[in-house]
Amino acid sequence: MQERPLLGESPELQAVLRAAQLVAKADCPVLVLGESGTGKEELARMLHRLSPRADGPFIAVNCGALPSELAESELFGHRRGAFTGADRDHPGFVGAAEGGTLFLDEIGDLPLSLQPKLLRFLESGERQPLGDAHSRSANVRVLAATHRDLHEASDQGHFRRDLFYRLHVVPLELPPLRLRGRDALLLADHFLKELADNYQTDPPRLNPQARRALLEHRWPGNVRELRHLCERLVLLLPGQFLGPENLGLKAAPWSRKGPEDRLVQLPAQGLEFEALEHDLLRQAMVQARGCKAQAARLLGLSRNTLLYRLKKHAIDC
Ligand SMILES: Nc1ncnc2c1ncn2[C@@H]1O[C@H](COP(=O)(O)OP(=O)(O)OP(=O)(O)O)[C@@H](O)[C@H]1O
Ligand SMILES: [Mg+2]
Repeated sequence: MQERPLLGESPELQAVLRAAQLVAKADCPVLVLGESGTGKEELARMLHRLSPRADGPFIAVNCGALPSELAESELFGHRRGAFTGADRDHPGFVGAAEGGTLFLDEIGDLPLSLQPKLLRFLESGERQPLGDAHSRSANVRVLAATHRDLHEASDQGHFRRDLFYRLHVVPLELPPLRLRGRDALLLADHFLKELADNYQTDPPRLNPQARRALLEHRWPGNVRELRHLCERLVLLLPGQFLGPENLGLKAAPWSRKGPEDRLVQLPAQGLEFEALEHDLLRQAMVQARGCKAQAARLLGLSRNTLLYRLKKHAIDC
C-alpha cells in the first residue's frame, strides 16, 4: 500500500503530528481518536513507519467486522483441533503481527466478550491461542482507533472502563477538518493535482469564491469527503475554472454566518444549557408519543445518543 504523509500546516494538526513522533518510538499502546475520515488509519501507519518495528508487519483489523463466534480465534489464533473445522494451527491477527504492529481499527465495536481478553493480552504481553494449554509471549505493539466516544460507550456499558483506561494512556486526537484553519485549501490543491496526474488529465482550478466555500464547509466526512469531491471534479470538470456552484456543497448550520441565519438566538443574559437540553428531550418524546426512533429523528440524533442523553437526564419513558 502506498504510504502518504499526513498533509496540513494548521497548528491543530501539527501538534498531533509532533506528539505522534514522540510516541512512535515507544512501545506503548496508542489510541487514535477523531471523527470519520480525519486520517486515523493514516496516522497509525505513520506511527508504525516511525517505530523500530517499521520492518515488521502492520496488521490492520476492523474490530466491528470480526464475526462474533469466531472473534477470539481470529484475533488470538487457535490450535489444530480446538473446535470442529479447526484442521490446522492458525496464528490469528496477533500471531501475524509478531515483530510488528497490530492496528485495532474501530476498537469501540470490539465485542464485549473479547474485551477482557484483549486487556489481559495488553497487560501480560501473552497470547493464548484457543485450544492451547499454554500462553505464549507475543512481541506486538498495539495501536487502536475509533470515531466513537469511548467515554460515552463506557457509560452505556458497551465498552469496559478498565480497557478504556489501558488504551487511553496515550490518546492522539485528530481534529476535524473544519477546525484545521486553511488546511482544506492546501489539501484540495494537493488532491486536485495528484488525482489529475493519476487520471492523466488537467487539474480543475478554483476561483476565490470556490476557495472560500471550501473553507466554510462543515466537512462531516472530513479529509475523505474532500478527497472524493476532488476526484469528482477532476473526472467531470478537468482543466476548468470552477466557482462554488460547481462544488455542490450543501450549506450546513455550522457555516451559517449572519444573525438572520441563526437557528436559535442566545438570550443576552445567557441560558441554562442542561435545562434546555432536558426540555428539548422531553418535548421530542412527547411529540413522538414515546417512540424513541422518532424522537431521535426529531432531534437529529442517533438512537444510541438519544438513549444516552435520556439516561443522563433521568428522563423516564
Ligand atoms: N492529512 C492528510 N493528508 C493527506 N491525506 C489524508 C490526510 N488525512 C486523511 N487523508 C486521506 O483521507 C482518507 C481517509 O483517511 P483515513 O482512512 O486514515 O481516515 P479514518 O479516520 O481512518 O476514517 P474512518 O473513521 O472512516 O475509518 C484516506 O484516503 C487518507 O489517505
Ligand atoms: Mg479508518
